[in-house]
Amino acid sequence: MPRLLIAAAAASMAFTGLATAQDAPFKMEIAARQGIMAYRAIQMGTLGGMAKGEIPYDAAAAQKAADNLLASVTLDASMLWPPGSDNAANPDSTALAAIWAEGSTIGDKAKAMADAATAMQAAAGAGLDPLKAAMGPVGGACGDCHKAFRVPD
Ligand code: HEC
Repeated sequence: MPRLLIAAAAASMAFTGLATAQDAPFKMEIAARQGIMAYRAIQMGTLGGMAKGEIPYDAAAAQKAADNLLASVTLDASMLWPPGSDNAANPDSTALAAIWAEGSTIGDKAKAMADAATAMQAAAGAGLDPLKAAMGPVGGACGDCHKAFRVPD
């Protein structure tokens, strides 16, 4: 009897492990893309802080943040967005299934982000006024995509 109980407990633990893995698909991909997003937010903290006057403008630091932001955008992260890795399939994610739906505008949003980050990269080291002028489109590109494709906060 005890032996049977142990076997049953072990079997149930193994099953639980399996069920968890199945309930949370694409854990690594989701963690990696969220990390890239957090990295962007850190660069935006520097650029936005300077634009708002909360951080003194520093051309080299601004340029570095803009270079980093652009690098995070041009990086090939396509393998981090497999179909079935949306928030309904894995609650760790806040990505909406609409990303993968027929007629999705995710490509347009990504293109707008790339254009805005390219403009910021050209502007950030050139002075506070050019940085400020480039800030709106960059923030807009983040916000537009989140509004359409991310679970609201
Ligand atoms: C093309 C669409 C798109 C663009 C552009 C975009 N994001 Fe995101 N972002 C997402 C999606 C989708 C998620 C949800 C990812 C997930 O949880 O699987 C997300 C999540 C996040 C998160 C939360 C990460 C976490 O740990 O849950 C942060 C922070 C973030 N984005 C910052 C930014 C910033 C800053 C920008 C602009 C510089 C930006 N994003 C641009 C689509 C986008």
